[in-house]
Amino acid sequence: MKIGIANDHTAVEMKKEVTAYLESLGHEVINFGTDSTESTDYPIWGEKVANAVASGEVEKGIAICGTGLGISLACNKVHGIRAAVCSEPYTAKYGRLHNDCNILCFGARVIGIEMAKMMLDAFLTTEFEGGRHQRRVDEIMDIERRNSGK
Ligand code: RB5
Repeated sequence: MKIGIANDHTAVEMKKEVTAYLESLGHEVINFGTDSTESTDYPIWGEKVANAVASGEVEKGIAICGTGLGISLACNKVHGIRAAVCSEPYTAKYGRLHNDCNILCFGARVIGIEMAKMMLDAFLTTEFEGGRHQRRVDEIMDIERRNSGK
């Protein structure tokens, strides 16, 4: 799978470890994050990976900052994006199964690489269930459409 990854200065090392893990599984990983540990602003990097997912350049996105929260908020401002902040695999799995999330976010200051790997496995191998969940996801996207331009 072609996967985009983005990070701010807090997550350079985590991004490298995640990239190595995903490549070891055979995924192609495109880097949209910073490679510098100099302080920077997470919205810059979140928008880049979110645009890549929204345009179809990559199939899924991974976005990492200190908590995962700031970069997820930035990603979710791009139309078509459903970015989920997770800190354990159950939410990562159900974020795909029920919410059809297309970007997984987490905090480099919150979890370690082994937990990140478990979440990545859950997120990248779980298909959206559809059915009643499709209606709910459609309702979310309707909110986006009704409120765009405001
Ligand atoms: C940077 O200090 C930190 O605020 C950022 O990485 C992120 O956690 C914000 O949500």
